[in-house]
Formats: sequence, C-alpha cells, structure tokens
Amino acid sequence: MRTMDDLEVAGKRVLLRLDLNVPLHGGLIADDGKLRACLPTLTELLARGAAVIACSHLGRPPGTPDPALSLGPVAVRLGELLRQQVRLAADTVGPAARSAAGRLAPGQVLVLENLRFNPGETSKDEVERGRFADQLAALADVYVGDGFGAVHRRHASVYDVPARLPHGAGYLIQAETAALDRLTGNISRPYAVVLGGAKVADKLPVVGSLITVADQVVIGGAMAVTFLAAQGYPTGLSLLEGDIATARAYLEKAAKSGVDLVLPADLVVAARRDPDEHGETVPSRAIPADRMALDIGPETACLFTETIAAARTIFWNGPMGVCEMDPFALGTRAIAHALADSPGFTMVGGGDTAAAVHALGFADSAFGHVSTGGGASLEYLEGKELPGLAALD
Ligand code: 3PG
Repeated sequence: MRTMDDLEVAGKRVLLRLDLNVPLHGGLIADDGKLRACLPTLTELLARGAAVIACSHLGRPPGTPDPALSLGPVAVRLGELLRQQVRLAADTVGPAARSAAGRLAPGQVLVLENLRFNPGETSKDEVERGRFADQLAALADVYVGDGFGAVHRRHASVYDVPARLPHGAGYLIQAETAALDRLTGNISRPYAVVLGGAKVADKLPVVGSLITVADQVVIGGAMAVTFLAAQGYPTGLSLLEGDIATARAYLEKAAKSGVDLVLPADLVVAARRDPDEHGETVPSRAIPADRMALDIGPETACLFTETIAAARTIFWNGPMGVCEMDPFALGTRAIAHALADSPGFTMVGGGDTAAAVHALGFADSAFGHVSTGGGASLEYLEGKELPGLAALD
C-alpha cells in the first residue's frame, strides 16, 4: 500500500478521506474517539505544509441534505482538538466548497459537508459515482485515504477518487491494518469472536466466514434474536433484522464444522426501549409476545465471560444490548470486563462498540487495540478485498 509518506504534500491541497461518522445524541457528539484517531495524520499533513480538505460521511442520508446530519459539530470539535480554526463548507462539491478549497492556505483545514448529501457518493451506477469523484478530485492535488471505517464501501470518495489523484494511505489505516493482521494468519488459539450490535443485515454474512476461522463465535445483541428466530423460538417485539434462512444455514455450518456458536441462554426483556422500563430476565427461548429483548441476561453474561476467559485471541464487535440505557447495559459491561481481564490479545472493533466501552468508563488502554471500523474490520478479518484499501495499492 502506498502511504502518505511517499507523497509530496508541501504547498499542495490534500483531499483527506476520514471516517468522521461519530455518534450524535441531540446534535451533540456523544464520543469523539473517531476524531482523535484522525489527529496523527492531520497534524502530520499540516506540519508538512499541506492545505487539508477533509471529507467524510455522517449517518446514512439518502443522497439529499439533512441538517441533522451536518458535519458542522464535527468541524467545531476537530478545531478544538487541533487548536486551530476548522471551517465547514456549506456544500460538498458545489460553489461553497470550490471557493473555500481554492482559498485554502498551507496549514489550514477545511471540512466538506457530508459526502452522502450527494447521491453520487454511494451510487451503484459507476458513471454517476465517477462524475462525483471527478468533482471531488478537482478540489485537490493529492488524495490521502484514512477513513478506515469506510474502506469496505465502494463509494466515490473511498474508491474512485484515488484513481484520479496521486494517493497514499494515512496513519490510521496503516495502524488499523497492522493490528488486524495480528488476527489473520498465525493466531494464538482459542480464537473467539464476539458479535452484537445493530446493522445485523450488514454483519450476518460475516458470520459465515468467521465460522471457518474462529473456534467460538459468540452472538449477543440484535443478531442473537435473528439466530433465535432461525431456531424457531418466539422473538416477541424484538428488533428482527437479517435473513433468518441465512442464520439457519450458519447454525448448520457451525454444527458440521465443530465450531461453537454460543447463543444467549437468557435475555433481559421489556415492553419498550425506554430507560425507565424495568427489565425482566427470561429464558432466551421464551421471549413473551409483548416484550422485546434489550440485553443479554446474567446467565448469558457468565457463559460469554467464561468463553472469553478461555480464549487467547478475542475480537469483539457490537454491544450486547441497548447499553446507552442503564437497565440494559449490564451485558455489554460484563463483556468489556471480560476482555479487559483477558491475558490474551483483545480487539474491540467498531465506532459504536468503542463509544460504548468509553461510555462505560473503559480506556482504550484496557484492550489490545480499539478499532474505529466495525464493518470494515469484520470484512478485513473475512479476508475480503476492501475497495478503499485496494484503491490505495
Ligand atoms: C461506521 O460507523 O461503521 C462507518 O462510518 C461506516 O458507516 P456505514 O455503515 O454507514 O457505511
């Protein structure tokens, strides 16, 4: 992979693709871990005399502007972290962005508005995506890819722009891939993968590949509900995402290949996703029709903790429940403790999971590595070619 150290950036305008997709609660940044992770690349580019045009997606707007998903708060926070003014362009490739990029001086930072406000960013149509990539590339002289959390997306700013400009990988992508390489090849076993969280439809296919490499695949969070449904158990009002037939096929595949697919024995359920609800513990095979699963139960927390304690390599992606609400945070807290106590190599993967462990009071230093990319790290572990890394090759 070409890196930014191979690029001449002094006096140049550098288009820097970052993953600034931070969790927002009520318009405020709930966790700025992803922004801090960008600082080594940003400060180095600025020190080398580059004018930096940073760009990212935030959330999943459908190709049209949505003020609630503006990168405004992110630009402000980046400015605080960098201790210098960071301007936000009012559009992505329109007159505001072109004019601000044209006036940018070496040592200054501009953030473009949310890339996904433009349909070209995520388009499956190569011509439409290419047109948007042309417009982005026209803003700069050089491209640096450092949005690790988005490298699994074949999107204009990730995949198509590097083909149009001299390019290299930033320090975050280099650090993330180096850490993930410890989980490929010669792994210290037993190797346990713990999965939870949302985006089940995105993550479910990964389970099929992980069954072939991990010794245990531990499943909590919303994904566990899909597997319980695949076993024919009632799931009540629980969020049910992902393809049940696929989950059933993975259960069979795991049974045939002798891999432990560890599912919850009990769950904490409530009538609503509400912090004032009192959770009730029920067997996972008997979620009442008028209740939804919001956390793993205490027996499951013990079961998962034992599995993690016996493993020598552990990768964890996705909270075990609605951990931002106190009554449903115990499962996620138990898993975070189990990883922190492990003598093996532990990796926490994904912005949401990292934000969850920070909110529960764990520092990054409690784990072997905290990855900023959830989907990206899972697909890397699957051994898939990731568009955003291939484009930097
Ligand atoms: C993430 O938070 O996982 C990355 O920013 C990617 O976001 P996406 O799943 O919306 O592409």
